[in-house]
Amino acid sequence: MTLIDGKQTSAEIKAEIAQEVKQMIAEGKKAPHLAAVLVGHDGGSETYVAHKIKSCEEVGFKSSLIRFEDDATEQQILDTVAKLNNDPDVDGFIVQLPLPKHINEQKIIEAISPKKDVDGFHPVNLGRLVAGLDTFVSATPSGIVDLIKRYKIETSGKHCVIIGRSNIVGRPLSILMSQKGIDATVTVCHSRTENLKEIARTADILVAALGRPGFVTADMVKDGAAVIDVGTTRVPCADTKSGFRLKGDVDFETVSPKCSYITPVPGGVGPMTICSLLKNTLKAAKQR
Ligand code: GUN
Repeated sequence: MTLIDGKQTSAEIKAEIAQEVKQMIAEGKKAPHLAAVLVGHDGGSETYVAHKIKSCEEVGFKSSLIRFEDDATEQQILDTVAKLNNDPDVDGFIVQLPLPKHINEQKIIEAISPKKDVDGFHPVNLGRLVAGLDTFVSATPSGIVDLIKRYKIETSGKHCVIIGRSNIVGRPLSILMSQKGIDATVTVCHSRTENLKEIARTADILVAALGRPGFVTADMVKDGAAVIDVGTTRVPCADTKSGFRLKGDVDFETVSPKCSYITPVPGGVGPMTICSLLKNTLKAAKQR
């Protein structure tokens, strides 16, 4: 069994991005600029955005953080999105999700200029992905494909089973995995899937992206499968300073002995998502 090291892989990719930024600056260009909008004080969102800002510094990007309290209005966020769309200094930006209940997330996503949508959430970018056109691929699916490629996991003609059909992970990943060049045969499972256990057991590559800690157990995994765990649920833990730890969707202890490859949580898919965001921002900067 090979443990897929997302931390190491993301460090390698960040070093490659930093090198490109150095080159851009040497050519007299400006550093790529990523802006993030954060509404409220959700613990997970605070941590993710802090990591994104820190990673920008590491690779030489400029970053900006625009914060709002929980009671911000939808119009305030729409006005900020419009400002960022029109700010020539900003190459790409994200609005961290989830947003407070009184703000319509889809309305905000659709207000973002597709050219600056480095999250790849805008329907135009999702549609371009489906059509096989150049686009911003959302961070988690893109990070998973990078891991699969860097670890040379065989995909052509292989059965990839994805548990979860979200617009952020499962759905775009299913498109990527079936694209020419990757060539996997893809099955997307969800809460209404019958015989999920039996289907999962046929997977050469099994991706768990449903957000239920420990959901995938050893009896759902074929011997020699590659298992990718996207889950990052915060569970209470007395032994950590924060009072919680991250738990994946895969029961690592029992599943890992059966696998050819497996991603740990933390340290697997998580660190790769930030790399993908940086890659998209670099791409946006080059295109502008
Ligand atoms: N919330 C959880 N993951 C993400 C992400 O990739 N982008 C944004 N904007 N919000 C998120």
